[in-house]
Amino acid sequence: MKSFEIKTKIHFGDNALERLAQMPYQRVLVITDPFIAKGPMIELITGPLKQAGKEFEVFCDVVPDAPLEKIIVGVQKMLECRPDAIVAVGGGSAIDSSKAIREFALKIDHYAEVPMIAVPTTSGTGSEVTSFAVVNDTAAHTKYPLVSPSLTAEEAILDAELVRSVPPSITADTGMDVLTHAIEAYVSTDHNEFSSALAEKSIEIVGVFLLRAFLDGNDTHARQKMHVASCLAGLAFNSASLGLTHGMAHQLGAQFKIPHGRANAMLLPHVIEYNADIYKDSRSQTEYHPSVKRYSTIAHILGLSSYNKVMSIRSLIRWIQFMNQDMKIPARISEMGTITVNEYMSKVEMMAEAALADACTATNPRKADKEAVMRIYRNLW
Ligand SMILES: NC(=O)c1ccc[n+]([C@@H]2O[C@H](COP(=O)([O-])OP(=O)(O)OC[C@H]3O[C@@H](n4cnc5c(N)ncnc54)[C@H](O)[C@@H]3O)[C@@H](O)[C@H]2O)c1
Ligand SMILES: [Fe+2]
Repeated sequence: MKSFEIKTKIHFGDNALERLAQMPYQRVLVITDPFIAKGPMIELITGPLKQAGKEFEVFCDVVPDAPLEKIIVGVQKMLECRPDAIVAVGGGSAIDSSKAIREFALKIDHYAEVPMIAVPTTSGTGSEVTSFAVVNDTAAHTKYPLVSPSLTAEEAILDAELVRSVPPSITADTGMDVLTHAIEAYVSTDHNEFSSALAEKSIEIVGVFLLRAFLDGNDTHARQKMHVASCLAGLAFNSASLGLTHGMAHQLGAQFKIPHGRANAMLLPHVIEYNADIYKDSRSQTEYHPSVKRYSTIAHILGLSSYNKVMSIRSLIRWIQFMNQDMKIPARISEMGTITVNEYMSKVEMMAEAALADACTATNPRKADKEAVMRIYRNLW
């Protein structure tokens, strides 16, 4: 038996933030990062709360990649404040931190059911609708994906007004994270008709609107579309899970602080090539891996289909490389100029072992072994 559930009520479109004034909770803890708390954007959140006469406090000690030490401070804050609801505002880091803070605080003192309203300010992780939170043990250089239905937000507010200020490089990274979620969910061993429908729509939107949002951050239509695509991809992978790209990207994030979406964008062409296994002898095409059909459907959705499935996948890989190039995402780690070859190569074996143990890798369509993963990491250099 399979099940498909959407727990989160999604408010979207113009004036979606009005939900903050309408929600039936009186005492609210807003969790966000310092960039948002100290800038003009916080007014878009606190304005409706003030207007509706709600009591609120702002905890703004969140930093990228949800490190455990900041989560502990957040747990203390929540237990002092004892809010009726949490409003999590920010990118994946702020929303994941909020999920972990609520989870751990209520394990210590279950004083009430405390709903979470997730308000994403990047169009990337889909964390507003997923039962995942990625937390980071900075001392051990390890990222832990937490998975539990209790992490899922009760409500999500998708208001594109909040993403207008995202700079082009973060639009690029987070947008490629959306594409990676949708593609990995689509080819996952756990894919189903519901997750596939959501992933297909997300891929179609990314194909049309990501570059537009990158080139003109004030293109509200493109921003709105990408915000919805991010959520659709989140719903898709919440059901179907992800794959090797994410399993490997988590290690690049933990070891070298490469932003999550950027690591995915760089790895994705390599992982598709590995999964589809299309560069073997072209005379034995009937033996191609089952994922070839699904990758070629993705190429078709993006308008890249060619006269046979293998050529379509080659076009898909080239298209992802062109997208990265157009959005100034480096193709190789060596181009980043921040990591030495020795430093990188010395971590390859350890990263490969951790990537194989990562929960996301379990649903990759082609079973990966350590040698193959090490080869991909080396090729990425
Ligand atoms: N829970 C999940 O399902 C899930 C899925 C994928 C990734 N993740 C995790 O999410 C994290 C990445 O999240 P992210 O890609 O959204 O980035 P992020 O939350 O780390 O934010 C990146 C940067 O963008 C800034 N920013 C956020 N909103 C902005 C805005 N509107 N204008 C200008 N700057 C803004 C932040 O201050 C930060 O400096 C990683 O830790 C990753 O592991 C979680
Ligand atoms: Fe991701």
